[in-house]
Formats: sequence, structure tokens, C-alpha cells
Amino acid sequence: MYFRLGKSRVRILPLLTITGIVLVFTLLWYLSGYSLCHRESSHCACYKCLTDSDPWFTGVIGEAPKPFLSRKYKLSEDDFNWWKHLQGPKHQNVTLYNETVDKLFQILTPIADVAEPSPDRCRSCAVVGNSGNLKGSRYGALIDFHDIVIRLNYGRTKGYETDVGAKTTHRVMYPESATKLDNTTHLLFFPFKTRDFQWLYKCLNPGESGFPHSNKIVNKDLIMILHPAFIKYVHEVWLGKKGYYPSTGFLTVVLSFLMCDEVNIFGFGADSEGNWSHYFGILRNKQIKTGAHPGQYEYEMIEKLHKRKKIIFFKGW
Ligand code: C5P
Repeated sequence: MYFRLGKSRVRILPLLTITGIVLVFTLLWYLSGYSLCHRESSHCACYKCLTDSDPWFTGVIGEAPKPFLSRKYKLSEDDFNWWKHLQGPKHQNVTLYNETVDKLFQILTPIADVAEPSPDRCRSCAVVGNSGNLKGSRYGALIDFHDIVIRLNYGRTKGYETDVGAKTTHRVMYPESATKLDNTTHLLFFPFKTRDFQWLYKCLNPGESGFPHSNKIVNKDLIMILHPAFIKYVHEVWLGKKGYYPSTGFLTVVLSFLMCDEVNIFGFGADSEGNWSHYFGILRNKQIKTGAHPGQYEYEMIEKLHKRKKIIFFKGW
């Protein structure tokens, strides 16, 4: 078939066929791109959601048990047998554990399970470790910009606002690292031994025990207790059983993957001598290194998550 254009004749059938093929391919390419984008962005309302496809990440996070302990969700015998080795032999008694936890849950408001991501919400989280690399970082405003700011142990803000920010929505602690919480801060309580549950119970019942730490926890409705099985999961699945057990910081990083849609990490990393020194205070014990925890491996795992674009790791100075 020919088409007359001025004096020249143009072959129109092949032209139409080629144009058709190009159009079909363009449409297919567009649709596949659209459906991919659409599927990924529908998980949450952030620019990039943690749940965006990554088979490795989805597999590892898919093995997570429910992260918080509740009256409904108790500790299995298997998990207790692993967890009990984090404490001395005198306190490894399962009956004592069960009695203590039952007593505690008689006075605690049951917490809701962590909420699934939703297309109309973006929960951005900053996990702030206590590394000395925060000194001079000027990350403060950036950290405070997140919806949820999770701080650890003694990680203070007063006097360090420019580098670490001022906002704290959640604070991770256990008895040995307890600081006073205000009425609006969620307590992420990490139990490493039965005595930790006993401590928490005493804090909430000062009248019963005349306990000196009773004023540390003001709002008992904001207490979330990490499930011991979650510690085991992080040790085995994320860290391949390296080290004695995971650090509070690394446990918090993994926990944040279940609580948040977008996670950014600050304040992780040893100093030039390999010690976990802090942005506050001076390190006295230069032999501390990373304690019982596989610090270097945890650090490399955070770097890996950054490289895979699951998180952004702000390394400080
Ligand atoms: O020292 P502390 O346990 O309070 O710090 C909280 C967490 O921050 C640690 O468990 C560790 O994961 C992380 N950290 C770090 N590098 C440091 C200090 C702390 O990665 N220099």
C-alpha cells in the first residue's frame, strides 16, 4: 500500500506496523512501571516504605515474632531456655519468671500490637544511638524532624540539642540504664533477666516496696515491654548467633522496622580505638570495646541496610 506525498510515494503499511509495535511496547513499559510504583507506594505514605520489595529484607523481617510481651503473648519454654542464660543461675527459675510477669500484667494496661503499614500514613522514625560520632554532627534539627524519635539508655538531650535534637517519643531502658521519664515518653522496656520485671513491678508499686526508683516511670500506660523471644530472634536471625547477645541499640534498630515505615539511624559506631564511647561524658574504661555484643557485625549490618536503601545511616563525624 502506497501513500502519495507530493511527488514521492511512501510505503504506509510497514510504517503503520512499526508505529503500532512501538506504541504497544511503550504502553506495556508504562503500565509495568505504573503497577510497580503503584504497588510499592501503596504500602505507606512515605516517599519510600520499609516494606517496599526486597526479598532478603522481607524474608528476615518475616521471621520476627510479635515484639512486645503481653498477657496474651507469653514466653515459650524453648525461648525461656535461651533467655534464661542472659542472667545468673540463681534466677533461671521458670516459676519465678511466670509469677513475676503475671503479677506485672495485673497492673499494666495491655498494649496494642504494632500496627501494620497503611497507604495513608507515614511513620518516620529516628533511632539515636549514643556514639561519640554525634559530637559536632549538627544532626539535631534533622533528628527532631522525625515523627518518632527513639533514644537509648542515658542518651541525654539537654546541652546537646544541636547535635542530637530535643525530642524523645520513646526511650529504651532496662533497670541499670534507667533515667527519669516524663509523662509523654513511651518506655521501651528491654528485659534481660527476671529481676528486671521485679524492678519494673516495684517501680509501679512504690507504696508496697518503698522503692527508691519509683519516680522514674511516670506514665504506666506508655510502657511497652520487649518480648524475650524478640531478643533471641535478633540474635539468631539477624546476627547469626554472633556475640553473646545483641546490643540494646541493634535490638532497637530491628524493633523500629516493625514500628515505623521509614527509619533513619544516628549515633552508631565505635571510636578509633574500637570502644563504644558516648557523645556525653568521657570513656573511663578503654578496654570496654563493644562489651558482650558483636559490635562490628552489628555496624556492618547497619551499613548493609543503608546500601540496600532500607534505611539512611548518618555516620556522624
Ligand atoms: O552505650 P549505650 O548502650 O547506652 O548505647 C546505646 C547503643 O548505641 C548501644 O547498645 C550500641 O548499639 C550503640 N552505640 C554505638 N556506638 C557507640 C556507642 C553506642 O553503636 N560508640
